[in-house]
Order: sequence, then C-alpha cells, then structure tokens
Amino acid sequence: MISSISIFIWIKSTTDYYCSFLMKISKGGTKMRNKQRKSSSLNFDAGCRSSLSFIVWSLVGVALVVCFFSIVRQADTRQNHIYFRHLSATRELEEIEEEHFRMPPPHKVNPRAVKRRGPRKAPKVIDQYLDESSAIHALFFPDERTAVNPTKGGNDSMYFYPGRVWLDTDGHAIQAHGGGILYDHITAKYYWYGENKDGPTYQAHPKATHRVDIIGVSCYSSKDLWTWTNEGVVLPGEPNNANHDLHKSKVLERPKVIYNDRSRQYVMWMHIDDANYTKASVGVAVSNSPTGPFSYLYSFRPHGFESRDMTIFKDDDGSAYLFYSSRDNTELHVSPLTKDYLNITVAMRRILLRRHREAPAVFKLQGTYYMITSGCSGWAPNRALAHAAESIMGPWETLGNPCVGGNRFFRLTTFLSQSTFVLPLPGLPGTFIFMADRWNPSDLRDSRYVWLPLFIGGLADEPLDYSFGFPSWSRVSIYWHRKWRLPESWKRYT
Ligand code: DGJ
Repeated sequence: MISSISIFIWIKSTTDYYCSFLMKISKGGTKMRNKQRKSSSLNFDAGCRSSLSFIVWSLVGVALVVCFFSIVRQADTRQNHIYFRHLSATRELEEIEEEHFRMPPPHKVNPRAVKRRGPRKAPKVIDQYLDESSAIHALFFPDERTAVNPTKGGNDSMYFYPGRVWLDTDGHAIQAHGGGILYDHITAKYYWYGENKDGPTYQAHPKATHRVDIIGVSCYSSKDLWTWTNEGVVLPGEPNNANHDLHKSKVLERPKVIYNDRSRQYVMWMHIDDANYTKASVGVAVSNSPTGPFSYLYSFRPHGFESRDMTIFKDDDGSAYLFYSSRDNTELHVSPLTKDYLNITVAMRRILLRRHREAPAVFKLQGTYYMITSGCSGWAPNRALAHAAESIMGPWETLGNPCVGGNRFFRLTTFLSQSTFVLPLPGLPGTFIFMADRWNPSDLRDSRYVWLPLFIGGLADEPLDYSFGFPSWSRVSIYWHRKWRLPESWKRYT
C-alpha cells in the first residue's frame, strides 16, 4: 500500500516537472513564431496542456489501479493463508468416502401365494428401514455395544460415529433431538439444546403420527463438542394443566437458543403444536443463564401464518431472524426479530415458494447466507437441499443436494437423517458441522444423531443464477464419514 502511494507521488511529481519544462520550451519557441501566427501559439499551449494532463491523469489512473490490486492481493494473501492452513487441516474430511453396505436379501415369495393373492409390491427399502423388526433397521440403529462413550477413552476418543448411540459424561444416551448449539462467550462453553424424548412412543389415534409426550428441552454443555455433560431439563413440560402449551399431550419441537447482548438474556424459540399439528405456532422462553431454568412466555402464529418446523439465526451485527415452514409446509417465511429477540417485527418475506421444505438450518460465510432444508415426509428421511442468498430476507436460490460420498441411497436420504442445525467452527472459515437427526419413529427416544463435516467451496450443482457463464454460488458439501473427528488445530481456536 505504502509503496503504491510512493509510486503515485513519484509519477505525479515527475510528470509535473516535465510538464512545466515542456511548457517553458514551448512558450520560448512560440515567442518567435508568435509574430507570424499568434493564434496557433494559443492552440499549441492548450493542446500541450490537455495532452499533458491526459498523460498525468493516465499515470494517476495506472497508479490507482496498481494501488487497488496491491490491496486486493494483500487481502487475498491473508485469506489464502487462512484457507491453506485450514485446507491442510481439513483435507482428510473432504475426501470422498464410499459406503458399501449389503442390504439383507428380500423375503422369498411363494409362487402359489402370488397366484392366489396376485403380485404384491416389494416393500421399499425405506419402509424396511423404518420397520423396527427388519434387519435393515438394525443395520442403521446399532445397539449400545457400539456407543460413543466419552467416559471410556482409548482409540475412539473424539471420534464422531454418525448413527451410533452417543453417551453423555454420566453414561446415558444424549436426549437432544431436533436441537441446536449455542457457543457462550461468558462461560466459554458450547451448549446443545434439544427435545428430550426419553418416554414411550405411541400414536394418539391410529392415523396420527408417532409421538412422545413432552418432557421438555434438555441442555448439555461441552468444551470440545464431543464430551457432553447433562445440564438437565432447562425448560420442563407441564404435567397437569391441559391448557398449557407445554402440557405433556402437546408438541414441543426444534428448540434453538441465542444470546441477546443488550438484555443479557438467553432466548429460546421452539415449534409449539397440538398432537395433530393444527396449532402450528412458535413459542418463546427466556433465561438469565445458558443452563436455565427458562421461563416460558407465550406462543403465537407469526403474522397470523402457520409455523411448523423453524429455526432462528443470529447475524454478525446482532440482528436475529426467525425462519419457519408455513402454509401447509409449501413455503418458508423469514422475519427479523425485535431487538430483545422476544418477538417478530412487522417485516416478513415468503421464500422457497411451492418447494415444500422443512427442517431449516441457516448459516453464513463471508457475507453469503446458506440454508439446508429437508423435504416433508414425516419421520422418514428424504433428500436435503442447500440454498443460498445475498440478503437474509431473500431471494433464496436452490443449489442442489449437498450430500457427498456414501452411496446413492445415502445421498437421497441425507444419510438417513434430517437437518436440524449447522454449527460454524471458529478458526476454520468455511468449515461447519452439519447436525441432523436419524429419527426412529417406532421408538423416538432411540433416534440417533448424524453429525458430519460441511464445507463451502467449488461450483454448485444446479444453481439458477449465472454470472458471466459461471454459477454465482459456491457448492455446499456435506461429506459422509463412517467415523471422523475435528482437526487437531481446531482446538487452538476454542
Ligand atoms: C418432520 C419434522 O421435521 C419433525 O420435526 C417432526 O415434526 C415430524 N415431521 C413429525 O412427523
């Protein structure tokens, strides 16, 4: 920068000097000729001055361009430095890992029975996966013997195993479904909030979806994102008052917590519903501590619209937003929260119209907003989509399926899971943890967690938007790994 400025000053002073020198000569030379042709001297003077000023300003322009590029290069070098440092740290997580599982053979069909009853449709793999008695189900819900256990130590320490039972520091399975994570700068800890579904699964009536009575919102704390200590139920359900939003017969899903720097309160937003999902509202609770207790405030329909799956996002400037699936889950809405985060403002935008998306998880990198969503198929997994936007209020573009590796079946089912949150990793720009739920509809308390590395970079698959022939968005990639851990270097930034 300084060198560019000195080049600029040097060019400017040198050209000024030559300019005045040439002017003197031209004035001397014209004195003689003036006697014959006065007017031409004026022309020469003016022409010389204008061409000289053209040269001066061209050189000034060149100097400015040099200056600009040197600033850009400096910024680039700084970025590359971070990027390369981080590339080498995360390289192995960005390797494509194939998964070849052998599906148990389908049941043999008796040809006489086929004659009698006619041909029956073979059950779809996904139906077998959802059937608790099937071998396919057992493949993806391995029992406690393979549990991730932070109290054990050994070679498996710090490894995430998507789909395995994950124990807390007391040796109990973590109950934080449909959850999200808050990093609290005051206590320098991560807090994982989620649905406690540690009760029996049942259907309120034969056509109803599987459910567990509301127990409340659990909270777990950790410094390393792998060893989680149970901080208890920080927002309990209501056992007696049947009119209360949190009565055990109702629905409390997808709780998310953000910290309000002005009020110094921890604010929780969640999906509040009745057993038939017709109330379709959001609920709000607050606490002075990340570990609660949270006081439940109220529920409402944002701007009068249905609100089912939802999330909240706190931006770098402290503004926060509510995203929710609305109008029978056909579209999403986004609305800024008030400064205290306890309500929504009047502004609202409808996004991803007619896309039928739910389970939104929003994140940001270098001024661009990203979101992962799922399709709407109850507890059954489906294909994830990544979306991006320049402004959080939209328009939002769809980039394609972010799942990489595994196999086709895995990629079309989000590795048999559904998005719930995307956590940025401090010190590793462009690296995130994708958090998802592998729901077990017949025994919801035994639903598993699928955490995988998520990266932003490269060209998107099916972007609608092009700039000079190139897609204008980067690809969002979630890499399948049977087992993985955070890079060692990550700890230095926590
Ligand atoms: C899908 C949603 O994402 C879940 O949170 C839950 O509401 C189930 N539907 C219920 O079927």
